[in-house]
Amino acid sequence: MSIQSISKGPFEGQKPGTSGLRKKTRVFMEPGYLECFVQATLNAIGGATGKSFVIGGDGRFFNREAIQIILKMAAANGASRVVVGQGGLLSTPAVSNLIRQRKTDGGFVLSASHNPGGIDADFGIKYNVSNGGPAPENITQSMFEQTQVISEYRIMDAPDIDLSNIGTTPLGDMQIDIVDPVVDYLALMETLFDFAKIRALFTGGFTMRFDAMHAVTGPYATAILEGALGAPKGTVIHAIPSEDFGGGHPDPNPVWANILMDEMMSGTAPDFGAASDGDGDRNMIVGRAAYVTPSDSLAVLVANAHLAPGYKAGLAGVARSMPTSGASDKVAERLGLNCFETPTGWKFFGNLLDAGKVTLCGEESAGTGSDHVREKDGLWAVLLWLNILAERRQSVAEIMRDHWATYGRNYYSRHDYEAVPVEAANALMEGLRATLSDLPGKTVGGIEITSADEFSYHDPVDGSVSHNQGLRIGFAREARAVLRLSGTGTEGATLRVYLEQYVPPEAEHGLAVDVALQQVRDAVIEVTRMQALIGRIEPDVKT
Ligand code: G6P
Ligand code: ZN
Repeated sequence: MSIQSISKGPFEGQKPGTSGLRKKTRVFMEPGYLECFVQATLNAIGGATGKSFVIGGDGRFFNREAIQIILKMAAANGASRVVVGQGGLLSTPAVSNLIRQRKTDGGFVLSASHNPGGIDADFGIKYNVSNGGPAPENITQSMFEQTQVISEYRIMDAPDIDLSNIGTTPLGDMQIDIVDPVVDYLALMETLFDFAKIRALFTGGFTMRFDAMHAVTGPYATAILEGALGAPKGTVIHAIPSEDFGGGHPDPNPVWANILMDEMMSGTAPDFGAASDGDGDRNMIVGRAAYVTPSDSLAVLVANAHLAPGYKAGLAGVARSMPTSGASDKVAERLGLNCFETPTGWKFFGNLLDAGKVTLCGEESAGTGSDHVREKDGLWAVLLWLNILAERRQSVAEIMRDHWATYGRNYYSRHDYEAVPVEAANALMEGLRATLSDLPGKTVGGIEITSADEFSYHDPVDGSVSHNQGLRIGFAREARAVLRLSGTGTEGATLRVYLEQYVPPEAEHGLAVDVALQQVRDAVIEVTRMQALIGRIEPDVKT
């Protein structure tokens, strides 16, 4: 075994996006591409000498190969120890937990989250820091700078490491700990939730379907729901992780989780349905004939978290990303909790959580989590819902009706326009940006615009400022639209239009969402000159 220095790089375009570096799998497979990014990351954190890392991925195509490469590079760069999931599998929240529990310097997550997997699909890599959360912007920026000047990487010339058995094995001077992916995570969940009470719920005949979408939560959900909580076999479907997620998009929303949705809307629906994404950090919650938007789910969790043992002392506060609806603000206001609005991307919650300013966080993009780790956590959200259902003994639909009658309802939908030519998408955003200051006071599509700006975030903990975080238009009667370009796509641009209309507790809460949002939607189409600039007004996906 020898340490080799290989001349390679730089590669163009290795700029980490909203959640690490995501590219087509074949791009990652180009000789030296992954290696240069990993070396740039290690250079950016001041080298790996004497450091320890967690490594794991969602099992998608190229996961195994990538893990072997990173292990050999960590050893060649002088790392002392690496914790890796058995078979190379770890969900994103499990990586975050292991970084924290085992006090490592950081970790690598191999995933493109909810994007499809396969040789012609997507791959990704993300670096997390010692608090267990995604690297903050100052680090991703220096990673990017390193990718632009890199000229060689270091790797151990060694045979592949067998990751199939739990235990410890050396690689040069580095120690590799191969761990069961589920055990530590399950132990953490047991500290937060009343497992006995949830178990009794299932014993009493409560029924549930959890769709693991052929992705990493399969083993976790099976061990926790069907194992520790005693739910009947078959509660978890699509439970075996596959390299291409069964050919589907492992994205837990009503469009991609349509098998679960169809069942939940049918006459034979179980009491409760949930799904998680490729790497296990997102969640979808659905009751019998009652889909719960991620923004509403966050609000319900904030209002009811005290029913679970881990949160019975109450919450320090709540944070949501800017495009997420204001439903959780309404709860925070009434309960007198701190309430923060951050840019899109889980990394922005890290400082608030570390400083103890918030306990729960959430995003419209199906992410919810708490201070138990520093990533969003799909199964955690499902277990908190189960704990609440076990305490309240009401259906999901009843809980939603109660919630809206107490706090009002934020009708909400996100419209995605996918694979828009980059120039056209930029032209639309530039055009809107240029007119922002003229908009307030105008009436468009029948409603008055009361405010319009581009969101900048001033981090209250470290004082950093993040500009250009989305264009927002406020309308009379608490309606709002937000526009931003996705930071996670791998092809063309994805334009996201977030529409919201608040109605108070005494108003009608049973309107079809499209109907409630019609006016705001028309106004956005007009104000952005959407038809002229991108050639269509119908979105590809509505969530
Ligand atoms: C990832 C991040 C989330 C973020 C989402 C936004 O999933 O982990 O924190 O909300 O990307 O994606 P977008 O495509 O809208 O930039
Ligand atoms: Zn994910």
